[in-house]
Amino acid sequence: MKERFVKRDIISIKDFTREELDFIIKTAEKIEKEGYNRNLLNGKCIGLLFYEPSTRTRLSFDTAAQLLGATTIWFAGIEGTSVMKGETLKDTIETVANYVDLIVLRHPYDGAARWAADITTNRMKRGHKKVPVVNGGDGKNEHPTQAMLDLYSIKKTQNRIDDLDIAIVGDLKYGRTVHSLAYALALYNCKIRFVAPEILQIPEYIEAYLKRRNVKFLKHSKIEEVISDVDIIYMTRIQKERFPDENEYNKVRGIFKLNRNMLSKAKTTMRILHPLPRVDEISVDVDEDIRAYYFEQAGNGVPVRMALLSLILGDE
Ligand code: CP
Repeated sequence: MKERFVKRDIISIKDFTREELDFIIKTAEKIEKEGYNRNLLNGKCIGLLFYEPSTRTRLSFDTAAQLLGATTIWFAGIEGTSVMKGETLKDTIETVANYVDLIVLRHPYDGAARWAADITTNRMKRGHKKVPVVNGGDGKNEHPTQAMLDLYSIKKTQNRIDDLDIAIVGDLKYGRTVHSLAYALALYNCKIRFVAPEILQIPEYIEAYLKRRNVKFLKHSKIEEVISDVDIIYMTRIQKERFPDENEYNKVRGIFKLNRNMLSKAKTTMRILHPLPRVDEISVDVDEDIRAYYFEQAGNGVPVRMALLSLILGDE
């Protein structure tokens, strides 16, 4: 199984089999329980190219790389880079690939990570080493490593991923974490509840993907319709920055707010996940509830990303 990951690009969760996702989870569990080789990536350098804001993805990749002995170079936002002078993504990738062994890319455009991976593959065909590209979130498309840590968090809290009832709430239209998670859950035998107002419901192309795979899913408009049944409630932020029209955003802003009173109907074993950042969709009073798991979930980004970096670069 390990050989399947060497020098591999991580672009879409749809590129992975269930066995491969389970192997990543198992590797992360091993890292967390048994420790890891602090020198595994000595001499390697990871490039973190973040064209959009990030706290968790950038810092957890940076932490994961350093714990394994790698160094990192990065930019966080295009201010101060030559993108401001008009440099294209292609030219930046061609350049940075000279300096690093792996690139993590966050970019506002859907498909940017696939494009970057094609650029480093073409570069390899010209005689250079392959520099794998990891998608750290491309526009409203996907965020595959977030889905991997989401699966890890679900397994860690529920001891399984199969046979769970999972609600995904909020911005299902523009939410790249939601898209990757829906594709990932399609590989497991769970029931998904998409909770959103009509204008933010899960895109038709994802519905069609789930139907082709006979995934059980239902659409809802209120958290109250699902709160007593589900094992996981995955809250998401309504992403103002993705709306082409601010009037549309104003119609749905603040539409969901999970508060402590609502949890009285939930199972005690239910866990609340959120890719974060949170704005107002989870009241701060929920943070003290045993079911709140979102900050631990963010912590799980480190072992999962250590597992990925180890598998992609560790066996060279
Ligand atoms: N979950 C996530 O992608 O968070 P950041 O935007 O802070 O990286």
